[in-house]
Amino acid sequence: MNKISELISLLGGTGFVAEKLNVLPSAISNWKKLNKIPRNKQEDILQLSSHLNVDIEKFLPIKKLHNVKVKILLIICGGIASYKSLEIIRLIKKTDIELDVVMTKSAQKFITPLLVTSLNERKCYTELFSVEDETKMNHIKLAREPDIILVAPASANIMAKLANGLADDLASTILLASMSKIILAPSMNPVMWNNLATRENYKKMLDRGIEFIEPDTGEMACGEKGTGRFPEPKLIFETILSYISKNQILTNQFKNISILITAGPTIENIDPVRFVSNKSSGKQGFEIASELTKRGAKVTLVTGPVNIPLPNCENVIQVTSAQEMLDNVTQQLPADIFICSAAVADWKLIPKTLSNKSFDVSNKIKKTNDTLLFETIKTPDILETVAKSNLRPKIVIGFAAETNKVKKNAYSKLLSKNIDLIIANDVSNNQVFGEDFNKVCLVDKNNCEEWEKQSKKSVAFHLANKINDLLTNYDQ
Ligand code: CTP
Repeated sequence: MNKISELISLLGGTGFVAEKLNVLPSAISNWKKLNKIPRNKQEDILQLSSHLNVDIEKFLPIKKLHNVKVKILLIICGGIASYKSLEIIRLIKKTDIELDVVMTKSAQKFITPLLVTSLNERKCYTELFSVEDETKMNHIKLAREPDIILVAPASANIMAKLANGLADDLASTILLASMSKIILAPSMNPVMWNNLATRENYKKMLDRGIEFIEPDTGEMACGEKGTGRFPEPKLIFETILSYISKNQILTNQFKNISILITAGPTIENIDPVRFVSNKSSGKQGFEIASELTKRGAKVTLVTGPVNIPLPNCENVIQVTSAQEMLDNVTQQLPADIFICSAAVADWKLIPKTLSNKSFDVSNKIKKTNDTLLFETIKTPDILETVAKSNLRPKIVIGFAAETNKVKKNAYSKLLSKNIDLIIANDVSNNQVFGEDFNKVCLVDKNNCEEWEKQSKKSVAFHLANKINDLLTNYDQ
């Protein structure tokens, strides 16, 4: 009996699994014959096995279980800021987070469930007592399935209901029946926000472990000034991403996967005080190392000299020059994935006299010397060396820093260096190096995906999802 047949029998047999997964028994027989479970059914099998207490890892290699998805339920309350929740939906939809949306009656005075449904491409829930909804997705399921319930905007009314345990509509019933993490992003008039009743409700909820994305201070839509303005949707989205990472909701996604990352600049010394380098801060590579570590990967980071704190990952190796970086990288092979985000200095400069004599570079070169010339020597291309080596990791990802023809140049690098995916940056006008934000374009053999400008943390989050897809496809 092969592994998948054994698993199906432990899960209750072909008929039972077929019924639970809503597929034909012949499909299950086929999986048993092929000894393989299709990617889009692995999560269902995972869920079924957790209910039945079957140790799934014995049957499906853990590397095939990456696509465990985060589920979020967004509750939209009524207020001037209701329309801003549409932007939150749009941002979440760009990730592979699964999103359901509930709207209160007041929210529907500002935006319609139809609009939300079209944006989210899923039914938007509004009714507590709906025969149709209760048979398909009842309110208890809506309350229990998500990892996070985000209430945005959260009105003074929903805060009062939640603080006092009221359950008189779908949103408040879900909040009361939920065991998920609840995060509120309030928006209301400053006097309402500062009202003692709201303050007390706020405090009660904090004590119960409910989190808040605090409202902004400034001028309100009604013209009054104070605290109560809805935070920027982007900030709310990023807070949610941080929460997912911090709380390790995806903690096992890259379990048993080794990832080697280069980051930062390299420094090529000319003499004891002068050198050639570039403006790379290492921020993007460090964010990637952090994100993948949080998702369970064994990350080794080889970094050039930087001025930011080192990320928390399995192994950090600090180097100076390109040659040192290459030596340390090759020592770390084999690895499952290689991500080359370092801005490696491309040349070493060797100082020469006019008559082509070398200087003693163990001492500082004096200005009193006659004319100083430089011989340029190309540094080794770390990415290319690894991608064309016998120990090539199964996925190799490079970056491309370009000032013009960004996509075209990135595509050429993809082909010439034998890379699976290039993250291309437009570095003209100093807009990437050292900044906290990044605008990238992902180039592979068939596609070019433009990502909107976002924080380097958010790029790392999305890139981790992309790597997850690449790995899952690789394993098929
Ligand atoms: N890279 C590398 N070793 C080098 C130069 C670059 O590993 N000596 C890697 C970078 O980490 C990046 C990719 O190659 O992942 C592209 O780097 P980039 O600086 O954009 O381009 P280069 O290949 O150096 O070519 P050019 O400077 O001519 O654009």
